Amino acid sequence: MAAWRDVFQIGAVAVGLDIGKETIKAAEIRRSVRGIELRHFAIGPTPPGAIEGGLILDREALAAALPAVLREAKIRSRRVIISVTGQNVLARVLRLPPIPEEEIKQAIRWEAERHLPIPVDDAVLDVQLVREVVENGERQLEVLLAAAPEGVVLSYIEALDAARLTVDAVEVGGLAMARALSQMVETGTRVLVNLGASMTELAIVRGGVPQFTRTILSGQEAVSRAVAIPAPRQDADAFALAPGLDELLTQLRRSLDFFRAQFGGTTIDGMLLCGGGARIPRIDRHFALELDLPVSIGTPAGVEPHAGLDPASFNAVAPQLVVAIGLAMRAVA
Ligand SMILES: Nc1ncnc2c1ncn2[C@@H]1O[C@H](COP(=O)(O)OP(=O)(O)OP(=O)(O)O)[C@@H](O)[C@H]1O
Ligand SMILES: [Mg+2]
Repeated sequence: MAAWRDVFQIGAVAVGLDIGKETIKAAEIRRSVRGIELRHFAIGPTPPGAIEGGLILDREALAAALPAVLREAKIRSRRVIISVTGQNVLARVLRLPPIPEEEIKQAIRWEAERHLPIPVDDAVLDVQLVREVVENGERQLEVLLAAAPEGVVLSYIEALDAARLTVDAVEVGGLAMARALSQMVETGTRVLVNLGASMTELAIVRGGVPQFTRTILSGQEAVSRAVAIPAPRQDADAFALAPGLDELLTQLRRSLDFFRAQFGGTTIDGMLLCGGGARIPRIDRHFALELDLPVSIGTPAGVEPHAGLDPASFNAVAPQLVVAIGLAMRAVA
């Protein structure tokens, strides 16, 4: 089946749009006979105050800014896949008793009630069957639940509509990040971290499957402030001076502890950083020291920049494009 799907997908084009507080990231990818190609990309400014913590505060300003980014990227398609992020947006692997696949959607509503910070009736849910597991002789289904507040999803669709763009799909940002980085995290348990301007998004991936995502509302601005402080000695000391960054690291440690406890003392094998914050020099080393984990920079894997793109200019922004590329990969990968 997969092979047929691949044949049909050749030539398929998809656009991912990752709208953040500070920047709008757009990427167009295409499936060719050689694999997945990045055809176009751009990073443009978000109008100040239009987005905060994943929420749209100024729809008109955002809608007015979107066409310029697509134009700069030379993206002509008007169909896009977007992400949502923020406090009440999450994805989580849950277990269900073995039931027919068509009943999963209904069954998950009951189960979701226990995991969502908002009422199930106010949320948009998506569910994917991950695999069947046998534990203590009992068959169970592992499913990946993704949820976001309906109001948030609608506000994005409306803003894009105002920019004459059609939303083909909406996805939890953490899952798009996991898809774009999946080739870097096929084994073991890894933490993926998107360091944005106002938010830090976390996804824990085990054996290539996202287990859990979480958003911390304290992002890379804290890290930028740290960088702006002159280092008394040449080194990671500059980072240690920033109170905001300490707070972010504390929250990251807490999330890691929570995950280890939930998954019976699982060892975390490493961390990948992406988002604009991952472009800060030495950030990986600083995080490795502070969190006592191997840390590296995550860049989209399995996507080749088109021959017409300048590899150096892509490489410079690759960590920041992870989510936008992961969104586009949803449709053609
Ligand atoms: N070359 C660079 N060096 C250092 N920092 C950088 C560089 N490029 C971008 N950044 C930082 O990345 C941040 C923007 O990252 P990103 O585009 O991921 O945020 P965002 O998606 O707009 O925010 P959010 O996800 O919180 O809504 C900026 O705050 C900026 O300081
Ligand atoms: Mg972001």
